[in-house]
Amino acid sequence: MVLLQGSIVAQALKNDIKAEVECILSENKRVPHLAAILVGENGASKTYVSNKIKACKEVGFQSTIINLDENVSQHVLINEIEKLNNNSSIDGILVQLPLPQQINEQDIVKSIHPSKDVDGFHPLNTGKLLTGNPDFIPATPLGIVLMLSHYNIETSGKKVVVIGRSNIVGRPISILLSQPGKNGDATLTVCHSRTNNIEQICLEADIVIAAVGIPNFIKGNMIKNGAVVIDVGITRVPDTSKKLGYSIKGDVAFDEVFEKCSYITPVPGGVGLMTIAALMKNTLHAYYLHEGN
Ligand code: GUN
Repeated sequence: MVLLQGSIVAQALKNDIKAEVECILSENKRVPHLAAILVGENGASKTYVSNKIKACKEVGFQSTIINLDENVSQHVLINEIEKLNNNSSIDGILVQLPLPQQINEQDIVKSIHPSKDVDGFHPLNTGKLLTGNPDFIPATPLGIVLMLSHYNIETSGKKVVVIGRSNIVGRPISILLSQPGKNGDATLTVCHSRTNNIEQICLEADIVIAAVGIPNFIKGNMIKNGAVVIDVGITRVPDTSKKLGYSIKGDVAFDEVFEKCSYITPVPGGVGLMTIAALMKNTLHAYYLHEGN
């Protein structure tokens, strides 16, 4: 069993980006700039945003964080996004999800200018992805593909089972891996809460991608010998033995699964780190769209 180490792959990607920023600086140009909007006090969202800002600093990007109250109206939030859309020094805008219930997520996603949509959630960008002409690929699916590619894991002709049909992970990763060409050409099955016989379907998979957000959902008896297991889950579970009062659990019962699989991502230290590195890649892409290269 080989551990797919997000720490190593993400660091390599960030080093490449940092080298590009050094090139940009040597030409006396402005550096890429990411703006993150955080609404409310959700602990996990705060951590994600602060890790994204930390990564910006690491690679040499400028970053701005905008904190808005939990009760903010949709109108005020869209006004903030409009200001960032019209600010030519901002390359990427991300609004951390989920949002409070008074706000319609799709309206927010649509209000971000497509050329600054580093999450790749705008319908124009999802449409481009769907039609095989991607501009911004959502960061978690992009991170997964970069991870598979780094470890030379073949996808062509493989049976891939994705568990979860979210717009953030399940749907875009299934589109990416089924596309023709490098890192694609797989045969996809997308499972969800209404799927019958998930255990049996998983057992047939060469690659399992778990993105359900339920700790230990994938058990040892659901994995065929030699399969590749990608764990996208990052759930906080109360744990009094930890300083923070919680530990982070993936969707995969690691101790049962690792003996059977050929490759597996750890949690933490796997897909989560790749998501952040992929976001940096998308921000650099946005910068070149705005500045030319
Ligand atoms: N919430 C969970 N994952 C993501 C992500 O990739 N981007 C944003 N904006 N919010 C998220």
